[in-house]
Amino acid sequence: EKGGYDRFMLKEIHEQPKAIRDTLASRIKDGLVDLSNEVALSPEAIRNIEKIHFVACGTAYHAGLVGKYVLEDLARIPVECDVASEYRYRDPIITDKTLVVVISQSGETADTLAALREAKKQGARVLAITNVVGSSVAREADDVIITWAGPEIAVASTKAYTSQLIAIYLLGLYFAQVRGHKSEAELKEIISHLGQLAGLAEQVLEYEGKIAEFARSIADNEHLFFLGRGLDYAVALEGSLKLKEISYIHSEAYAAGELKHGTLALIEENIPVVALATQSSVFDKMVSNIQEVKARGAKVLGFAVEGDSELQKSVDEVITIPKTIDLLAPVLTVIPLQLFAYYACIQRGYDVDKPRNLAKSVTVE
Ligand code: F6R
Repeated sequence: EKGGYDRFMLKEIHEQPKAIRDTLASRIKDGLVDLSNEVALSPEAIRNIEKIHFVACGTAYHAGLVGKYVLEDLARIPVECDVASEYRYRDPIITDKTLVVVISQSGETADTLAALREAKKQGARVLAITNVVGSSVAREADDVIITWAGPEIAVASTKAYTSQLIAIYLLGLYFAQVRGHKSEAELKEIISHLGQLAGLAEQVLEYEGKIAEFARSIADNEHLFFLGRGLDYAVALEGSLKLKEISYIHSEAYAAGELKHGTLALIEENIPVVALATQSSVFDKMVSNIQEVKARGAKVLGFAVEGDSELQKSVDEVITIPKTIDLLAPVLTVIPLQLFAYYACIQRGYDVDKPRNLAKSVTVE
């Protein structure tokens, strides 16, 4: 049942290229995204959307954070992203021109379901991104985009997250097209990169040995930091959650520009720092943040995009992400972070698939 792998999590990490392909399949026609079979919103209703709220928990919430960048960038619709347990109790401002997008692998998370019901009660249109056909979230939402990741057994979510990202890109591209925000040529260009992601994910999986080695080298540490800017910050949050969840190493993810506002005080000799620098618009800023932590003795694992020789000079180890457009990089960047958490956990001798105190599906508040 584990398909030759020792643990479900490792199997599911390796299933990501397939999950990406399956989630894309049949949704791209003549080089453009077509979601009209799943999203019943009329073109007019799509043009009338005034704001989007992404609502989810845990890893799915981190996908929503990527969603904020993606939808704002592609479709220029203002987006807020909330944790479901906060959203449901904070009396959010919802109108009939608000689209609430709930994201849930299981489709049964109590807080996400309650947020969905609250949003509908207040008149929002609700679109669900979920991995389970026929789940409560899928049944109660107005529109559903299924992520075709297949069953996810390990408690730590991996392939569900990457397929949620794919669903978000599809949604962003579809809305951009309907709202006429991008030209057909621009959209086709992005979609062609989207089509290459599964193959690039296969390449990233080949770094497994190198990641395992770095993970083993830091496994005795009790604290670790993840840094990133822009989309890399959203991915850093997910990498940090993964590590905490299964290896029980305390870690924090910071928007690298926030370092100086407190966190830098915690950087001392030999503290491991994972620094993500895949976003070209803030690359130079990231390099200076890396230099700031290096100067205080941090041991830095940097993530750079293929062809960047600049970063190597400033870090101790480097993981090279194959070249894609900045917007799509999270799909590739998160994979080594999942492997990192996995191997840190193995090294420390914990149960990867069933971390303490956690359940796969949180159906109580
Ligand atoms: C972390 C993890 C959780 C879930 C969260 C939401 O690895 O798996 O944070 O993402 O409990 O679950 P779903 O997506 O089923 O609503």
